[in-house]
Amino acid sequence: MPEQSATITAVSHYVPEGRLTNRDLEKMVDTDDRWIMERTGIRERRIVEQGTPTSSLGAEAARRVLSERGVEADEIDLIIVATVTPDMMFPSTACVLQEKIGASNAWGFDLSGACSGFLYALATGAQFIQSGRHSKVLVVGADVMSSIIDFEDRATCVLFGDGAGAVLMEAAKGSNGVVDWILGSDGSGGPYLYMPGGGSLHPPSAETVERKMHYVHQNGRSVFKFAVRGMIEVSESILQRNGLTPSDLKLFVPHQANMRIIKATAEKLRLDPARVAVNIDRFANTTAATIPICLSEASTDGTIEEGDLLLLVSFGAGFTWGGILLRWGC
Ligand code: COA
Repeated sequence: MPEQSATITAVSHYVPEGRLTNRDLEKMVDTDDRWIMERTGIRERRIVEQGTPTSSLGAEAARRVLSERGVEADEIDLIIVATVTPDMMFPSTACVLQEKIGASNAWGFDLSGACSGFLYALATGAQFIQSGRHSKVLVVGADVMSSIIDFEDRATCVLFGDGAGAVLMEAAKGSNGVVDWILGSDGSGGPYLYMPGGGSLHPPSAETVERKMHYVHQNGRSVFKFAVRGMIEVSESILQRNGLTPSDLKLFVPHQANMRIIKATAEKLRLDPARVAVNIDRFANTTAATIPICLSEASTDGTIEEGDLLLLVSFGAGFTWGGILLRWGC
């Protein structure tokens, strides 16, 4: 089958209506708006109503993508859902989402890449288009982080939010689409950011609940340092090997974990701040959803147009990281 380049032909997102502001958090833990703004850049985050699963957010983002492109759900060949908060251990959230949107001709699977999940999924989806095996791949990044956050732990509960972003990938007609990608992981980073309970290592029990093992645990300071270094390295590598400089980019789309991580990365790359996608102030860290939400907003408000060169960059638990160079448009 012929090799053809894969591109994003539609993008959308969905965030829940419920807002949790820094002021709200002040009433829940020993923190304050000023500390959160200065240390993270986050003002508020969206939180689902209790019991709303990841598939519901992802399905709504997916429906919006299909409607934007004028594509029926049964035309989709493959659904990839990047998430660390699946509805259940199994069946996959991709299967649940398939049923919700009526994508009766698709197959699908979940992909666990934490904050790099969407880039892992995008690169994976691109392979199925490039090989000519599939013509329409739905890639969803969705997380309900509020389901695994300890709202008594001020070090983590201020950082995360819930949300979903989705893209449709198809074969590019011209020269747009995925130009290059670099994905990486380093399992020695595991102990810095993880949720220990609920898997086969520590199956759920009264003890795992008692010990708060079903929540996110992290060494924030170390993760911060690794994230800055990792995002700079992957950005420089992918630009260099494509003979590009940061000034060639219309938009740099970093994972939204902390405004100071974004700023440090952008400064090292000497990027014009106007060319750096930022929405962490409104949505916080939605894990697999941050990058597609940024893309969706940039596409809707006209920041990115046909032919623009973008660099998507992530770093997350694992450790995992990724960089995808993309020429925007069908
Ligand atoms: N409100 C007020 N004070 C807080 C606080 C909060 N929400 N969270 C922590 N603090 C306190 C700490 O207890 C510490 O107090 P101490 O000096 O008396 O011990 C102080 O603030 C500094 O803590 P520290 O952890 O050094 O702050 P920091 O500048 O590293 O910021 C993070 C903490 C978590 C915001 C930052 O490390 C970070 O963003 N790391 C990356 C996390 C991340 O992105 N994870 C997802 C990866 S994809």
